[in-house]
Amino acid sequence: MRLKKAVFPAAGFGTRFLPATKAIPKEMLPLVDKPLIQYAVEEAKASGLEEMIIVTGMGKTAIEDHFDTSFELEILLKEKGKLDLLNMIENVSGLVHFAYTRQKKPLGLGHAISITKNLINDEAFAVFLGDDIIDSKTPAMKQMAGVFEKYGTSILAVQRVSKKDAHLYGIIKGEKVSPGVWRVSDLVEKPKENPPSNLAIIGRYILTPGIFNALEKTAPGRGGEIQLTDALKHLLETEDIYAFEFEGNRYDAGDKLGFLKANVSLALKRPDLRADFKRFLKDLDI
Ligand code: UTP
Repeated sequence: MRLKKAVFPAAGFGTRFLPATKAIPKEMLPLVDKPLIQYAVEEAKASGLEEMIIVTGMGKTAIEDHFDTSFELEILLKEKGKLDLLNMIENVSGLVHFAYTRQKKPLGLGHAISITKNLINDEAFAVFLGDDIIDSKTPAMKQMAGVFEKYGTSILAVQRVSKKDAHLYGIIKGEKVSPGVWRVSDLVEKPKENPPSNLAIIGRYILTPGIFNALEKTAPGRGGEIQLTDALKHLLETEDIYAFEFEGNRYDAGDKLGFLKANVSLALKRPDLRADFKRFLKDLDI
């Protein structure tokens, strides 16, 4: 079973980033010089996925424009001989296929995934939450695809978190079956106390098509939204689910502090910025 399709739920309101996200989608906020969602799409491409399905909503047309060709801009760059930039712009829109579907109301992450059912058919697919930026040697989804090849089940990306932060995440309970891999026996969304482990689910999933039945059974939960974690609990009733601790640094760029950390870390990795930016940071009087 080869994974071909990637879903990018991007219909949330991004309230943690207001006022910046009032008129600009959160997914278009730049990390250094690339919008958040482009990092996720590039990870998907580098993991061998070919079809990108973006779930958009009100005020999100900039995302579609970003991945579209821009004739005027391309002609201008050609005329001015700016071939590096031209190449970069062509790479954004080229190589993979994009499909868009619109979530009319932000009824939750689970709901956003459920509306992709007709575009997915009966095959496993990858899900990327663009807020989670993962900096790793091997793309995180490529690592997950390796685990999927072995087990053929839904795979959840997990990361270790401290006990005090567990209430911010979905936490898995499971049995370790090989290095970095757990068979999941339960999932607890944002546990207030006594988390069942320190393994938190983060924004990368491989889901089997069974998730669509599970989503149909899922009633609105916390915040009146259809929660993906609740649907995964239903899926566990009929299918195995494995969790995988990927290698790499993850930044929650949907949160202000995480966004700042991601910007600084990624800028320090850029050959064109590194030396000057490092000097600037060293000279800060902090
Ligand atoms: P978040 O919980 O981060 O919500 O959604 P949000 O609206 O993006 O941001 P905040 O918390 O208000 O600041 C997780 C992911 O699920 C998508 C979001 O776009 C994000 O990628 N989502 C959420 C949808 O596509 N539809 C929804 O109804 C809810």
